Amino acid sequence: MDIEPIATLELTRWTGPFDDATRAAAQDALESGKVLYFPKLPFLVGNSENSLLTDALSNGRAKNISRDPDGKIQGDAASPEDSARLSVMMGRFAEQARALVLTLFPGYADRIDQARTSYRPVEIAGRSYSPRTDDKRLHVDAFPSRPQRGRRILRVFSNIHPMGGARVWHVGEPFEAVAQKFAGKARRPLPLEPWLFDLLGITRGRRSDYDYLMLGLHDGAKLDGAYQSNAPQIEFAFPAGTTWMCFTDQAMHAALKGQFCLEQTFHLPIEALAHPERSPLRVLERMMGRELI
Ligand SMILES: [Fe+2]
Repeated sequence: MDIEPIATLELTRWTGPFDDATRAAAQDALESGKVLYFPKLPFLVGNSENSLLTDALSNGRAKNISRDPDGKIQGDAASPEDSARLSVMMGRFAEQARALVLTLFPGYADRIDQARTSYRPVEIAGRSYSPRTDDKRLHVDAFPSRPQRGRRILRVFSNIHPMGGARVWHVGEPFEAVAQKFAGKARRPLPLEPWLFDLLGITRGRRSDYDYLMLGLHDGAKLDGAYQSNAPQIEFAFPAGTTWMCFTDQAMHAALKGQFCLEQTFHLPIEALAHPERSPLRVLERMMGRELI
């Protein structure tokens, strides 16, 4: 691929301080759609938390265990003691991820919204899904029930595998190239559909044209077998004890293999970005020649 999609930062602390040059380079790379990779930034699991490093904690139905910002855990099958430990560990990860994002990007502080934390204790390789729900296929994040209306999806990941297992991703081509291939094929809403879906609770809030296009990119890429095999992409293994982040609505990504990962999601309006013109919303608006919200 012409453009290196991963930018490595040798940070060793979650809380900084980081110098101006580091912050500026990190923000430029992140808002360009690259994956920021922190090979020297482990999330530390305490001895008392070792009992949480088993896939038996998953309830087998939900893909992930999730923790709301208020501490409530969902999707687990843990004992009350382990459930309390889980909430503490995931809460600590949520705080550290927030500290990392806000010390690297202080310009985001006023507008950032901290969403769910997730814990992914189940091995990815060998799990089978329908193509549309299979995150082993290259995609940008777009969720049918959660319209973003241009809001960004920023995610921080740490691989906490206790036996050194890597988490293997594919990272694909720049967003603009993906949009050029799939935006034209996106399904348009039926009249009143966005309003009706919102009313019936199928979506949380009303889908905008932007949301339909992003779902079109997500589904279009995942359902296109030739694209999955032939699109420009690199394979990257994030070793245990490392951390990475990216705008998952912009960086083409697929998670192929790995177990025991923590993830924190943030939402951000494009006005908080240093380069809103690079956001998926603005790229798609330029391409379509109209406003999408
Ligand atoms: Fe994803």
